[in-house]
Amino acid sequence: MTYQNPPTIPRKSATFDDYTLSEIRRAAATGIYDIRGSGAKRKVPHFDDLLFLGASISRYPLEGYREKCDTTVVLGSRYAKKPITLKIPITIAGMSFGSLSAPAKEALGRGATLSGTSTTTGDGGMTEEERGHSETLVYQYLPSRYGMNPRDLRRADAIEIVVGQGAKPGGGGMLLGQKISDRVAEMRTLPKGIDQRSACRHPDWTGPDDLEIKILEIREITDWEKPIYVKIGGARPYYDTALAVKAGADVVVLDGMQGGTAATQEVFIENVGQPTLACIRPAVQALQDLGMHRKVQLIVSGGIRNGADVAKALALGADAVSIGTAALVALGDNDPRWEDEYQKLGTTAGAYDDWHEGKDPAGITTQDPVLMSRVDPIAAGRRLANYLKVMTLEAQTIARACGKNHLHNLEPEDLCALTLEAAAMAGVPLAGTNWIPGKNNS
Ligand SMILES: Cc1cc2nc3c(=O)[nH]c(=O)nc-3n(C[C@H](O)[C@H](O)[C@H](O)COP(=O)(O)O)c2cc1C
Repeated sequence: MTYQNPPTIPRKSATFDDYTLSEIRRAAATGIYDIRGSGAKRKVPHFDDLLFLGASISRYPLEGYREKCDTTVVLGSRYAKKPITLKIPITIAGMSFGSLSAPAKEALGRGATLSGTSTTTGDGGMTEEERGHSETLVYQYLPSRYGMNPRDLRRADAIEIVVGQGAKPGGGGMLLGQKISDRVAEMRTLPKGIDQRSACRHPDWTGPDDLEIKILEIREITDWEKPIYVKIGGARPYYDTALAVKAGADVVVLDGMQGGTAATQEVFIENVGQPTLACIRPAVQALQDLGMHRKVQLIVSGGIRNGADVAKALALGADAVSIGTAALVALGDNDPRWEDEYQKLGTTAGAYDDWHEGKDPAGITTQDPVLMSRVDPIAAGRRLANYLKVMTLEAQTIARACGKNHLHNLEPEDLCALTLEAAAMAGVPLAGTNWIPGKNNS
């Protein structure tokens, strides 16, 4: 009898997995790198790796239906004559007009206003749709200066100086020609249909001293009324936060590597910057070392999805969070009801990220008049408001279970971590131990 080899299972490489192989083939076929929207898709330590402990004998929980858990937050109390008070500590992040359609911008304004929170402009300037429908509007002052004018600085409720973004710290954004409509071109004073690359650094600064001068300049233009935020990507959160505070920021916005972008090189999105979870404690430490924690407010963004994420970010020391991607999903982005059209674009609902191409079937990341007419700003705004309400209720549920009558009373001591990495990054004990890796050895 001859010996027959048993069938073997073909083994695929973990290093050269299917996606990697397809990317090598794509690069070989086209000779161009991949540009896409959305944030990092690789798995990195995140809020999912933390758990709340809840109350037991040593802690006294609050009753959900009778006892209050406050959610208000005041932003800009350091120097601004008119700080902003929001009903919830969840703001809408800056997303450019150009990357987003005008109806999407209007829907963001409507949803934020219904919820008592703020929305933010973005690269490319302020649209009437968003100013008109946003009770509280933060105006971004970006390295590109596209669409920037002093009149709009004065029409805003706060100014956000963008130094960087979590998806691409050290890099500038892109807006490809397909999305440069007449209106987008006019607002940016650049030609229609031509690819635009936003600058990666401000033209008039070479270091932190220049940031201080810029903040003073903007305070003068706005009569010292408006809170001035400084937005940084998750590069060196301790030093960048400290420098922003020293330069005179009222608020620091810290965006981790999972943060969304409208269009950036994939290699950049996936390989530059630190996970959001790893950025928060160093930033809070910088504020504490300067005696500025809760005096200069910290807004954290990058991968915030639900009320638990909000509560965890706040427990680690943030004053508020900001959402981009999740807000777009609430408006209708990547909705399975457009699956047939996603398939025609070679993708599927939930994975669609070629936002730079301007072919978004949901009408959100496009300037195509037919596609964007699919967004009903009133209905989409209401969906965003519903989603923000659910997130807030979820965060309150957790806070009450930890015995807190304000979301800001959550603290690291309410948390434990499921993994060593998350314990080290968040500075909370590994579950079942009192061990914080890197902090003590007991
Ligand atoms: C479509 C889109 C456009 C964006 N445009 C800008 C922009 O113009 N300026 C900016 O500072 N950040 C921009 N961002 C980043 C967001 O402000 C924010 O930092 C990020 O989306 C937060 O992460 P999240 O999407 O996981 O919530 C953009 C993000 C998206 C998704």
